[in-house]
Amino acid sequence: MALPESFLQQLKLSCDIESVISSYVTVKRQGRNRACLCPFHSEKTPSMVIYNDTQSFYCFGCGAGGDVITFIMKIENLDYIEAVRFLADRAGMQMPETGVDDSAAKLKMRILEMNREAARFFHRCLISPAGQAGMAYFKKRQLTDETIKKFGLGYAPDSWDALRKHLRAKGYSDEELYKAFLVSRSQKGHYFDIYRNRVMFPILDLRGNVIAFGGRVLDDSKPKYLNSGDTPAFKKTNQLFCLNFAKNECKGSLILAEGYMDVIAMYQAGFHNVVATLGTALTQEQARMISSYVDEVILSYDSDEAGQKATKRAVGLLSAAGVKARVLKIEGAKDPDEYIKKFGATRFKLLLDGSGSAADYELERLRQSYDLDSPSGQADYLRAAINGVLSSLATPVERDVYAGKLSRETGVARDTILAQVNAILAKKRRTKEKKEWQDIQSGRQYYADRVNPQKALNKREAIAEERIIAFLYKDNGFSDYILDKISPDAFATDFNRRLFRIIAEKIQHNIALDSLSGELTPPEMAKLTGYLAQTAELQNIKDELDDDIDVLLRHKNRVTDDKIAEMGLQELSQLAKQLGSQKKRDHTKTF
Ligand code: UTP
Ligand code: MN
Repeated sequence: MALPESFLQQLKLSCDIESVISSYVTVKRQGRNRACLCPFHSEKTPSMVIYNDTQSFYCFGCGAGGDVITFIMKIENLDYIEAVRFLADRAGMQMPETGVDDSAAKLKMRILEMNREAARFFHRCLISPAGQAGMAYFKKRQLTDETIKKFGLGYAPDSWDALRKHLRAKGYSDEELYKAFLVSRSQKGHYFDIYRNRVMFPILDLRGNVIAFGGRVLDDSKPKYLNSGDTPAFKKTNQLFCLNFAKNECKGSLILAEGYMDVIAMYQAGFHNVVATLGTALTQEQARMISSYVDEVILSYDSDEAGQKATKRAVGLLSAAGVKARVLKIEGAKDPDEYIKKFGATRFKLLLDGSGSAADYELERLRQSYDLDSPSGQADYLRAAINGVLSSLATPVERDVYAGKLSRETGVARDTILAQVNAILAKKRRTKEKKEWQDIQSGRQYYADRVNPQKALNKREAIAEERIIAFLYKDNGFSDYILDKISPDAFATDFNRRLFRIIAEKIQHNIALDSLSGELTPPEMAKLTGYLAQTAELQNIKDELDDDIDVLLRHKNRVTDDKIAEMGLQELSQLAKQLGSQKKRDHTKTF
């Protein structure tokens, strides 16, 4: 993806990082730098720092970081080229047209246009005489005209080519419609509408683009819902239905429902902080998205077996993402939609307010599966509660509260229960430590650092490498010194070696460093800005550098020594030859 270097430089000059970030969050002065509340995780005191000298940002809280392009990629949810285009538009610059493969971005644009046109088409059908069947269905489900309009609901007519004809007339090709998941192709190569005689739910992203559709049958036939497959404009595991509305009204908590109709029914009843997944179980990515808006989720899945299973899964994912889960107990109805219709919004509000914590919910489920009238049933219940529920609680306060509850319930002393919980926690900790140690020893991926997993094995070297890279990048007059003393092969970790090589190459060819976001992924960019941030305050750079270089050189020698010790005679003589020729090469210094 080669954008001309000169263009990128011009772009960065025109898009000062501080002014770009200020258009999203309030930036405050902090010494030489600027600080702000990090828009990528929720926080109350600023931990994101903006460095004007390197035109980068880094969040000490969540590790997000990079340059102005990475920032736009993250906050606007764009890919690299789209972010560059976004910034170019902002700066009033023309994108260079040659040499850039932007066909993916163009297709995405076309899909969004097609989808918008399709949504208009479905909506017009719904409110026209031809849409009677669809309208009758929505009325049966008691949706008001206002709700229908708010969600842009529609109806796909009972025809094999109504939408296709409409969009073809607007200039879209069959191939494009196919890529947008609006038409399908028969074995003989005929194209036909995917959605026929269904009520249609457009799915919007945070900026209001129509990115996909869900379509429901009007009767009991199968499949009940048809959803868009993934397209360049839509990845279903990364989206939530209705988040575009809910994000502005969540006030600390979100309701997570199972499907489109639940969301719409709750919204109509006045609960606007509601979202749903799109025909899949909750994913890690969605849990992470939720955690950037709220600290608490109320799960309101269906009361059937499948819904309860999904609830348990979601509780786990949410708590792993740092979100507290409460679980709605819907009795007398199969889902929130039915509950609201039967008992009204006011009672539903009571249900929401009274919804128990996930722990309450799980204890309740356990109680139902043991015979609490018999002593052995009680003992089993107590054991299951301690093992499965109490020892998964995140804080000592929560554990204390639930130990109290359980004690009142069973008559077993609270301290006994707590002692048992603590023993389990200690055992879990030991197992975890042991596993981490085994992972480190065996060189298996160490999850704590995904960008540079080898850091766990070579911590001292990795830290030295990070500082050397930072000084090389910042070039406080030490670049030549560093390049003279150290070469990539002295690096102990692969990621840092690659980073060093990329930066060294740029410096040797006098290319601006700004263009790195094209070569590094956003997490890698974040790592690099982390290195810069962590060395920002260092004073005696020369001394520090010498120490760090020393660490790497000693490591390199040690590795060579180890290898030599293991070598046979033949290998040794080969090495001697190699070393001889390497000496000559050292003068020409290649990377
Ligand atoms: P439900 O069957 O509970 O749907 O499936 P619902 O939204 O309550 O539908 P109504 O009230 O009968 O209209 C929950 C969700 O699972 C997905 C949809 O996203 C649905 O909203 N689903 C279900 C499918 O994707 N395909 C199906 O065939 C069924
Ligand atoms: Mn349902």
